[in-house]
Amino acid sequence: MIDTFLAQAVHLVFAAIWAGSVFYVAFVVLPLARDGAFNTTKPLEAISGKLTLISRTSALVLLLTGGYLAESHYTSETLVNTPNGHLVLSMVALWLLLAGLVEVGAKRLEAGLNGKKLREPAADALGLYRAAAIVGIALLVVGGAITSNLAAAL
Ligand code: HEM
Repeated sequence: MIDTFLAQAVHLVFAAIWAGSVFYVAFVVLPLARDGAFNTTKPLEAISGKLTLISRTSALVLLLTGGYLAESHYTSETLVNTPNGHLVLSMVALWLLLAGLVEVGAKRLEAGLNGKKLREPAADALGLYRAAAIVGIALLVVGGAITSNLAAAL
């Protein structure tokens, strides 16, 4: 009981941190950088490095806690054959997509910053980060649909 509560609480906290930080970078920090609000590449390099750290840590924690929850709530049969099982499997697919988009976005941004450019790499990476932010929101919506047992109400 307490272990399920802990796994669920940690899962939810890291889901919020990951989705929230990607959203903030995509919709606040990068547009400012693209519009010339920063004078040097240093702040953006630090922001990108920290976001990568947050993203990797969250991806690992969500995989571990999500795996634990899946093991305690589902069997391989119910994962494949029930609507909530399908939602959990979509969560795993979206998890992979979110992690991939943040990694590729960071590589693209850092490559440009290493070339001592600022506005151009921010503009180039913006689309990837925005796609990642939308995937993060989709994950929270899928989580809400599981928690409220939406599939049973439809
Ligand atoms: C490999 C990755 C993941 C796995 C295996 C996984 C699995 C699960 C499972 C089994 C549940 C509980 C389902 C139930 O109660 O019937 C759950 C809930 C949830 N997940 Fe995930 N998940 C993963 C990644 C993510 C990510 C990346 C996010 C958001 C950024 C997320 C957000 C949520 C939310 C909001 C809930 C509902 C609240 C909660 O139960 O704590 N999950 N997940």
